[in-house]
Amino acid sequence: MYPQHVIARKRDGHALTGDEIKYFVRGATDGSWADYQLSAMLMAIFLRGMTAVETAALTDAMMRSGSVADLGAIQRPKADKHSTGGVGDKVSLPLAAMIAACGVAVPMISGRGLGHSGGTLDKLESIPGFRVRLSLEEYRSQVDRIGLCLIGQTAELAPADRKLYALRDVTGTIECVPLICASILSKKLAEGTDVLVGDVKFGRGAFMPDKAKARELARALVSVSTSMGTPMRAILTAMDEPLGRTVGNALEVAESIDCLEGRGPADTMEVTYALGEQMLLLARVARTPAEAREKLAATIASGTARQKFVEMVIYQGGDARVVDEPQRLPQAKLKVPLLAPRSGFVSDVDALAVALAALRLGAGRTRTEDKVDHAVGVSELVKMGEPIEAGAPLCVIHANDDPALAEARAMLAKAIVVGDAKGVPPKLVDEVIGA
Ligand code: URA
Repeated sequence: MYPQHVIARKRDGHALTGDEIKYFVRGATDGSWADYQLSAMLMAIFLRGMTAVETAALTDAMMRSGSVADLGAIQRPKADKHSTGGVGDKVSLPLAAMIAACGVAVPMISGRGLGHSGGTLDKLESIPGFRVRLSLEEYRSQVDRIGLCLIGQTAELAPADRKLYALRDVTGTIECVPLICASILSKKLAEGTDVLVGDVKFGRGAFMPDKAKARELARALVSVSTSMGTPMRAILTAMDEPLGRTVGNALEVAESIDCLEGRGPADTMEVTYALGEQMLLLARVARTPAEAREKLAATIASGTARQKFVEMVIYQGGDARVVDEPQRLPQAKLKVPLLAPRSGFVSDVDALAVALAALRLGAGRTRTEDKVDHAVGVSELVKMGEPIEAGAPLCVIHANDDPALAEARAMLAKAIVVGDAKGVPPKLVDEVIGA
């Protein structure tokens, strides 16, 4: 086999064999294919697509390009969720603790934020001392002992994806369902979960704004994961306005603690419950959505989910006092309200524009090597449809320098629109795929 022959077969629209796909992935992992050959193949896949069988073979080969965690000896059922990323999406934090408190282990390997969407690891790292870099053995042992571990991708995990993703980023081949599906699942399925639930977002603040395209991705994820032996469902959720009332790492941790104490914003809890129900159903610890919801709600009412979160923070070296005293989380020097210019209703809160303002404050990164400022962001954000008086706060901006504050303020003043019309957010949980 030669790379150029396999590339030409895909270029001409043929389905690749399992061996050809393994050859391509091996080439990405050991460097035996040149970058120009890998890039040509990625473009051929982008233009010609892949069948479900090819996508599953690609996912499997990419997953096996590195270590695959073996959690088979852990008796409890294991469930995890993956989100395609959004603005203010802190759902993983309360959800993982609630699921673990229901007796289902959550082995969660997460990513960092990039561009406008936030990342679970950055949020957790705003807790002083919290370690997200554990070895796969430490991870396995913590999942076994407390039923919950949230770590970052290690270098041993799906190295082929790291190579291919970097090439896709610079060759215009990111927006391709089979490639996205293999990229996401090669990492997620290497973590050793029994079942998986996806939160595939659509709308202005989503990685894939178009709903039809998001649905296509959700269907591909569900079908490939399930065919590879990990039953999966996905929900399509709207990401037009930020989720909850905070955007920014430490601020989102504080809001996650609110969720665990029964004071979470309605939209954040709606997505958390929708995902949690599917996780408990797939893990077979609940028979109906109503039973699953009851179990999840009980973990909040009894404080067991909050306790699980504390336990995880302690196990991972973090200062668990932040749970009782969120003021111990990093604090910005400047906390300045943005005031409503007139009375009326909140007609719009543009998730993407709010995310870009948070990025300007330093809450995210534009390149993988950038450092994030955990303290900055936006809190007390109004929601679409709420009434507002002139001079009342639309949000509070948390900044660490004046120029960033001034620019973010101007961006937020455009992102949040007050008018006569009540803004109507789209239905949040739109569809369940694979139920
Ligand atoms: N997230 C990933 O991990 N991979 C993609 O290709 C897109 C989003």
